[in-house]
Amino acid sequence: MTQAEPSSSPRADADPGNSLPRHVAIIMDGNGRWAQRRGLPRIEGHRHGVDTVRRTTEKCAALGIEALTLYCFSSENWKRPPVELDFLMHLLEQYLVEERRTLIDNGLRLNMIGRRDRLPAGVLRELEITQQLCADHTGMQLVLAVDYGGRAEIVDAVRQLAAKAQRGELQPDAIDEAMFSEHLYTAGLPDPDLLIRTGGDMRVSNYLLWQISYAELWVTDRSWPDFREEDLMQAIQDFSGRQRRFGGLVPG
Ligand code: IPE
Ligand code: IPE
Ligand code: MG
Repeated sequence: MTQAEPSSSPRADADPGNSLPRHVAIIMDGNGRWAQRRGLPRIEGHRHGVDTVRRTTEKCAALGIEALTLYCFSSENWKRPPVELDFLMHLLEQYLVEERRTLIDNGLRLNMIGRRDRLPAGVLRELEITQQLCADHTGMQLVLAVDYGGRAEIVDAVRQLAAKAQRGELQPDAIDEAMFSEHLYTAGLPDPDLLIRTGGDMRVSNYLLWQISYAELWVTDRSWPDFREEDLMQAIQDFSGRQRRFGGLVPG
């Protein structure tokens, strides 16, 4: 397939029927390897990754994307050494303070998905403040996946539904896909249309397992700190050229 040059207005250029993704989800991977290649400690990769988060968020908002979900910390990432965990939690808290300007200037809404009970109090406090500041915004929904695991999310949804059934508020037969979706952390968001992974690995690492059932996958070898606007535009351009069939047949 011949790809057109990346354009700053893919909605206008795209093939009719498959234009701009409404929801982009990103697995921001490769920070540690980026740093190690430069003889730096792994945490330097995370630090540089924050700049990529800001640039990517601003670009997605400017393009008119409705939701951007960023995988910041998985429920499996607790296996890492304490010094890296401390740094990551500190970085997240700092992000929630220092990026308020970006969120306000771009009119963004902010949400965090994942389990809260293992997160440091400082992170939860700054999240609360930042969410309050963004409460009246109507722009792109920025969703941070923190202590997030797709399987844990599904288990949490099942527990909620089972509890409702036990209380007699719900007949098991009434549970359908739409109702199940409304019990996930992402309730109210459209499913991701485009899933981007940096760092080159061809796996989903427990990310949005239910929601990505028909997402278009786009993987680059480039590490997250090196991911640039051109890469994002290339991903969106490639997305626009894909034929999404959802199990059906090509019209005509
Ligand atoms: C992604 O980068 C960020 C987190 C998982 C927190 P990594 O830290 O996984 O970097 P690599 O994959 O080891 O290079
Ligand atoms: C996925 O990256 C999680 C985040 C980007 C936050 P990992 O580095 O944890 O994934 P694996 O271990 O390579 O599958
Ligand atoms: Mg990794």
